[in-house]
Amino acid sequence: MTFDLTEEQIAVQEAAREFAQQELLPGVIDRDRDMIYPTSQVKKMAEMGFLGMMTSSQYGGGGMDTMSYVLAMEELSKVDNSCSVIMSVNNSLVCWGLEQYGNEAQKQKYLTKITTGEWIGAFCLSEPEAGSDATSQRTTAIDMGDHYLLNGTKNWITNGGSSRIHLVIAQTDADKGHRGINAFIVDATWDGVEIGAKEDKLGIRSSDTHTILYNDVKVPKENRIGEDGFGFKFAMKTLSGGRIGIAAQALGIAAGAYELALKYSKEREAFGKAISKHQAIAFKLADMATEIEAARLLVYRAAWLKDQGEDYAGASSMAKLYAAETAMKHTVEAVQIHGGYGFVKEYHVERLMRDAKITQIYEGTSEIQKVVISRNILKGKLYETILSK
Ligand code: CAA
Repeated sequence: MTFDLTEEQIAVQEAAREFAQQELLPGVIDRDRDMIYPTSQVKKMAEMGFLGMMTSSQYGGGGMDTMSYVLAMEELSKVDNSCSVIMSVNNSLVCWGLEQYGNEAQKQKYLTKITTGEWIGAFCLSEPEAGSDATSQRTTAIDMGDHYLLNGTKNWITNGGSSRIHLVIAQTDADKGHRGINAFIVDATWDGVEIGAKEDKLGIRSSDTHTILYNDVKVPKENRIGEDGFGFKFAMKTLSGGRIGIAAQALGIAAGAYELALKYSKEREAFGKAISKHQAIAFKLADMATEIEAARLLVYRAAWLKDQGEDYAGASSMAKLYAAETAMKHTVEAVQIHGGYGFVKEYHVERLMRDAKITQIYEGTSEIQKVVISRNILKGKLYETILSK
């Protein structure tokens, strides 16, 4: 097993690192404080090809592998997690879901525009009463013959205000349980789509997270994704890949905080020497470096499995669980190493600490990842796969 990066992957990593430093770092504190949506930064991300990295070139994408996407996510997430979550949802949940499970007409009409960033996409699964329990959808899509009539409310939707296209998961036949759920492509400009207020969040504050209401929205039959009843599996399969993106985000947050803490600890002196030379700080740095490297291996491993065409559902949950826990734990440590400076915005680590929290929540909480991991272990699909490859 080797993780030697190809020349193309190294080029992507370097381009993303430079982009994050030059285009995202300036103004990131202000955008976060004032909840300013990063319009010009998203436009530049589109120009760089970051919004449809894994989509094949025939639909306007970069045709890159998951590993390249993860490397780019990691670099952007060291700096600006509002931008990286916009990128993650657009790439993993919307573009990937449409390319894998949409039909040719849907791909031509929608994917080509979302992958290039002309339109932004949103993934609308969570509801006021169905976050973790995704089968309990209250949003309904009633079959009216030539169209579905969509009614319901979706919560905490990333890209909720900026997106033109929503992939909406809704119940079409409650008697069938998860087999009565479908996924639909909904245009935000259609009658009956109402964007609620922007959420005022702890972290990723400049990304636009909204409640979305669907009131008697007529969804043409041809906008259903896949066979009747495929919606729940569509959501689960898409989220399995999405979790690799969020794992990479968490990894980037942890690594970004570590890099800042390392730099600060070498510069800051106390009791006659750099604080990095005091064992209390040196041991923290050792723990951070070790656990971040372990997270990196899990994240890259999940991406690699996906690129090999192997089953990666369990591996992506493992990567997300561990990377998110590592991000939370070590951003707190990075603030501690910075002392009083860590508590003020100028030093960036307090923002990374706030951003880390959401990685333990969205695209399935840490507890949900444990559900997925344990089910995969019991099916003999995870531990054995990892050891044998
Ligand atoms: N791939 C393919 N099929 C899958 C699957 C996967 N990864 N996971 C489950 N399935 C299938 C099962 O095989 C089963 O099919 P059969 O009945 O045909 O055998 C079916 O789906 C139902 O599965 P379960 O019985 O396991 O379903 P469950 O009700 O017990 O729930 C769960 C499973 C893992 C808890 C799921 O509900 C879940 O993942 N919940 C979390 C949802 C989530 O991540 N929400 C985040 C919202 S999106 C977001 O945050 C985006 C953003 O804005 C950043």
